[in-house]
This record gives sequence, structure tokens and C-alpha cells, in this order.
Amino acid sequence: MVTSPSDFYEADAYARLKAFADSKETPCLVVDRQIFRKQLNALQHNFPYAKVYYAIKANPMVELLEILRDAGCCFDVASRYELDKVLALGVSGDRISYGNTIKKAADIRYFHEQGVTLFASDSEDDLRNIAKAAPGARVFIRILTDGSHTADWPLSRKFGCQTDMAIDLCLLARELGLQPYGLSFHVGSQQRDIGAWDAAIAKVKVIFERLQQEDNLTLKMINLGGGFPANYLSRTNELETYAEEIKRFLSEDFGEDFPEIILEPGRSLAANAGLLVSEVVLVSRKDRNSLHRWVYTDIGKFGGLIETMDEAIKYPLFIEKQGEVEEVVLAGPTCDSADILYENHKYELPLNLASGDRLYWFSTGAYTTTYSAVEFNGFPPLASYCI
Ligand SMILES: Cc1ncc(COP(=O)(O)O)c(C=O)c1O
Repeated sequence: MVTSPSDFYEADAYARLKAFADSKETPCLVVDRQIFRKQLNALQHNFPYAKVYYAIKANPMVELLEILRDAGCCFDVASRYELDKVLALGVSGDRISYGNTIKKAADIRYFHEQGVTLFASDSEDDLRNIAKAAPGARVFIRILTDGSHTADWPLSRKFGCQTDMAIDLCLLARELGLQPYGLSFHVGSQQRDIGAWDAAIAKVKVIFERLQQEDNLTLKMINLGGGFPANYLSRTNELETYAEEIKRFLSEDFGEDFPEIILEPGRSLAANAGLLVSEVVLVSRKDRNSLHRWVYTDIGKFGGLIETMDEAIKYPLFIEKQGEVEEVVLAGPTCDSADILYENHKYELPLNLASGDRLYWFSTGAYTTTYSAVEFNGFPPLASYCI
């Protein structure tokens, strides 16, 4: 496997990112505003009818949030801490949704006090809490979806509810004085099967129709979630193809006059904008005849690469040294045997690899800094810079 920077970045962007990264100690993440802006433009161009609610959890760097704020985007917020962050940037509550279905009553109250009127939910207890702490709020009910086998980072089981429960919750919301506003789903992050949206939209259609026909309740909004692709080793269709297909699914089910459509992209906006650089700490063999080396580098699962869990996300990896390559096991620097990045999928690195060599991890702008541990084995959280 030979990864080429030009498969993942435009030449000028890569030169910018790399020059900056090379001036810093490892490990660190460098995020490029221009790439992020391009990703956002592409998404808005491909989904002109949709409102973007950025999933802040993917990368909450202030510089990125400012780009989104200035582009008129909205924000999918998971906690009061993310809320404070966007409010501090002057974003008003009407551009924010509390997208986490798991929340404390006190936090719901806090969102309500800050002017947030849009809440996700998937359970009766949560709806009752919303009705008390944020009376009159708009709620969207998250439904369960399939697609966990084709998403690199599935989000199934823990969130959402079955069709009948979603209908019951919409009716309960109305009874409680809330506004049953719409439905949401997330087909799984880095979803490689576009058909996952087809199945989810079909479920949504059934719920819309049943509520309309049986209960005279008109839902207004569909939240198509995240799941849009970043460029990792396992390639996906282009965003354009996702957009064309999803539009077709929506048209088939809802005609040309769709309900309001919301997207909650995280990974697809932030990942490609990042370059992470680490350093080889040690190269070793477990015995004289071993067919592969172990390469220990100064970033691991606890330093921000947790999405290597079960080798789910395979980051493109680049090294400047050339020459004959050999398969390696890649592991992090901590005293925890779970801190192995890739053992089944064998990256190939040059035979002359040595301590101090830099490894460049591409498409690492999403779900890295936020996952980094605070002080595991004493290592500080992953340093990050925006250029
Ligand atoms: C509710 C919700 N919306 C959106 C996202 C972002 O998804 P993605 O990063 O696949 O775009 C997530 C990711 O966990 C999520 O939980």
C-alpha cells in the first residue's frame, strides 16, 4: 500500500498543512479552514434544499464554528458545554437543536432558558422532561435505522425507537403541549451504503402518513442525520452520488414538495480538513524470525485515534521515506495493551523506518481531538491548530 497525498488533498492545501505540521512537535493535528469551507460549500451545493446543523462533536474548534456561523448554518448540540461554546460566538438559540436524546432535566431547562426550541427525543421519559422544562418546544423523534453493517462507525441500537413507538411519542408530545415537529435518524457514520437512507426515508414516510391519516397530525420536518463520507482508505461514492440518490428517495416518497429537510453532518465536513502528524517512538520485532515489525508511535487510541477501535476507521497513512516496504503492526505509546491501532489490517511501511520518523495521518480532522484522553499515562491531550 502506498498512500499518495494527492489522492487526499489538493497540492496547495497539502503543502500548507504539512509545512505547518512540520514546524510543530508531535503528535498534533492541523486543520485547514479552506478545506473545511470547501467541504461545506460542496455539501450546501449538493443539498440546496436542506438546512445544515453541524454536529459539533466531530470537531468543535472555534475557527470552524465561526465559518459555520458566518455561513448561516445551524448547530446540532450534544451537551450544555457545546451549547455554551456556540452561544459565546453570538449564535442565537433559534439556530441550535439539542440533538442528544440522552439529557438531564436540568440541562433541558438550561437550553430552554438560552432560547433553544428544538429538541430530539426517543423516549417517553425524555419527552415528559422536555414538556416540563421546555414547555411548548418543537420535538423531533429519532427512529431506529438499519445500516450498521455498512457504516464504518455504526450508531445503531443505542438511539432511536421503532415505528410504533415513534408514532406514540409524536401523539404524546401533542398531548403534553409540545409541538411534534418531525422525525430524525442517523444511518451510521461513514455510511458506505447509500441505500440506508432509502430504507430510513421509507420508514419516515409510513409514520408521516399514519399520523396524518389516523390522528390528523402533520409533521413538518425530516432530519437525515449525518453519515456522509470522508476520504479514508476504504473509499466511498462521491458526495454528489449520495445527494442525487437521497433526492431521488425523497422524491419517490414525498413527491416534489418535501417537508423541511435538516442535515447533521460532522465527519464529512471536518475529516478531510485535518492532517495529523506523529513520530515513530520505536520499531521492534517480537522474535528473530518474525515476519512483521511492531511500530510504536507517539499517538494511540487514547491520544485521539479511538476510531481505530476494531480497526473501524482506516486512516490513510503516509511517510516520506521510500524503499522496500514490509507489513507492520501499529501501536500507540501507552502502557495499555488495548492501545494497538492496527493489527489485522497490515499497513506497509519502509524497512528503513526508524525512531524519529514522522507519520502523516490523513483525513483526521473529525473525531480525534475530542476523543483524546486528558492525562492517560500522563500524556497531554492531542494538540491542535487551525490554519
Ligand atoms: C445525533 C447525531 N447527529 C449527527 C452526527 C454526525 O454524524 P457524522 O459524523 O456521521 O456526520 C452524530 C454523530 O455521532 C450524531 O450522534
